[in-house]
Amino acid sequence: MDSSNSTPEVSEITSVSKSDNRPISTIVIIVAMQAEALPLVNKFQLKEDDNSLFPNGVPWVRYHGIYKGLSVNIVWPGKDAVLGVDSVGTVSASLVTYASIQALKPDLIINAGTAGGFKAKGAGIGDIYLPSVVAFHDRRIPIPVFDLYGVGSRKAFSTPNLLNALDLKVGRLSTGDSLDMTATDETSIFSNDATVKDMEGAAIAYVAELLKVPAIFVKAVTDIVDGNKPTPEEFLQNLATVTAALDKAVTEIVDFISGKSILAL
Ligand code: ADE
Repeated sequence: MDSSNSTPEVSEITSVSKSDNRPISTIVIIVAMQAEALPLVNKFQLKEDDNSLFPNGVPWVRYHGIYKGLSVNIVWPGKDAVLGVDSVGTVSASLVTYASIQALKPDLIINAGTAGGFKAKGAGIGDIYLPSVVAFHDRRIPIPVFDLYGVGSRKAFSTPNLLNALDLKVGRLSTGDSLDMTATDETSIFSNDATVKDMEGAAIAYVAELLKVPAIFVKAVTDIVDGNKPTPEEFLQNLATVTAALDKAVTEIVDFISGKSILAL
């Protein structure tokens, strides 16, 4: 874990009861893109929910099943009803996180997805990060205290045993609603001390904290933000191979979780 975890303005996503030794029974994996979700759905042999938990007419999709004694749910916000593309970004991610927690009362939220990485902070294509802290970089409110609210820095649930057991990198995650990075975003990402950048993590952290559910983040690097290739090109070029690495990491994490209590992670 990085030492900056003790920064006072970083809030804990949740406080878990110190006596909670029950094995984890239900997990929800929030994934923004179908390309990220489907290999995992196959791996865990999940079925699409036809009797939806969610309101009529929303495109949100839940896949579910039992894997190694765990009730595993993968929730994907689906395709935009008009444009037919994946509903990426903070708004859809917040909505499905809220709806999934309300309906399924999970013991743990896992947000799995791709991210841009900063080579100046050691990131390379295909690296898998388990971020320690998540924050926003596009909510600038230069008024005292509102500035901190905008940044919305939160700690991921601490999983020292999981980190010891698996080959995952640690760093901070910065979230915004754009794939590209303006100079102003860059300044905020730098001040968030981020190694990886995504479009959902900090929003999911906000909802998980509100509803007191522990949340962790698994981010696979598809593109190097401070490299010389255009981000959309590099992202699309690497999406399939990096998604395979992401799915392998998520499977290892779920295997590790199986049979353990939340405090043993
Ligand atoms: N997901 C994958 N690459 C990304 C990037 N560069 N920014 C935000 N989200 C991403």
